[in-house]
Amino acid sequence: MKIAVIYYSKTGKTKRLVEYISHKLKDLGVKVDVFTVKPFREYSSKLLHLNPRILYETLLSRNISIKGDEGFEPERYDAVIIATPIWWGMEAPPIHSFIQKYASLIKTPTYCIVTADLPIDYASKLLKILKTQGYRVKECIQVTELEKDRGRIDAMLDRIPRT
Ligand SMILES: Cc1cc2nc3c(=O)[nH]c(=O)nc-3n(C[C@H](O)[C@H](O)[C@H](O)COP(=O)(O)O)c2cc1C
Repeated sequence: MKIAVIYYSKTGKTKRLVEYISHKLKDLGVKVDVFTVKPFREYSSKLLHLNPRILYETLLSRNISIKGDEGFEPERYDAVIIATPIWWGMEAPPIHSFIQKYASLIKTPTYCIVTADLPIDYASKLLKILKTQGYRVKECIQVTELEKDRGRIDAMLDRIPRT
């Protein structure tokens, strides 16, 4: 089985999560390719919450130019995992744009993981968005703290090879 993990991370939490799930999947005997999707022009790292470009692109669901998906061929994978930070209640713009771009191209079972600070159910929201876009989305979970949520992450990963 071969899985593609596609993610964006600005402050490192989603990146650490993806490193964890890649190791875990490899332990389960799954081949994993990781694609780090980024805005073509990365956001400045200063004062992220006050960044007007982030606010504008996120709240208006802008489709932005992305990079990092070169070489991603959806048909080569048995399943896809999409991971994103939540910004202002939404998936981060690079992942929003990735989801739009590959809507009719990813036909395999799709899983998603959102990372956020607040215990608000953002996962269900992204699951609905993916379904609306035609993704065969199986499961979407939320991670606020990697340590605390490890059990739920592991449980989801265990289910993927049986998809
Ligand atoms: C601009 C911005 C907006 C955010 N909005 C939310 C939010 O609406 N709800 C929430 O729970 N966390 C929010 N967060 C926190 C991030 O979702 C959380 O820290 C995430 O895990 C960061 O992922 P990363 O380290 O991979 O970039 C926000 C963070 C930033 C920088």
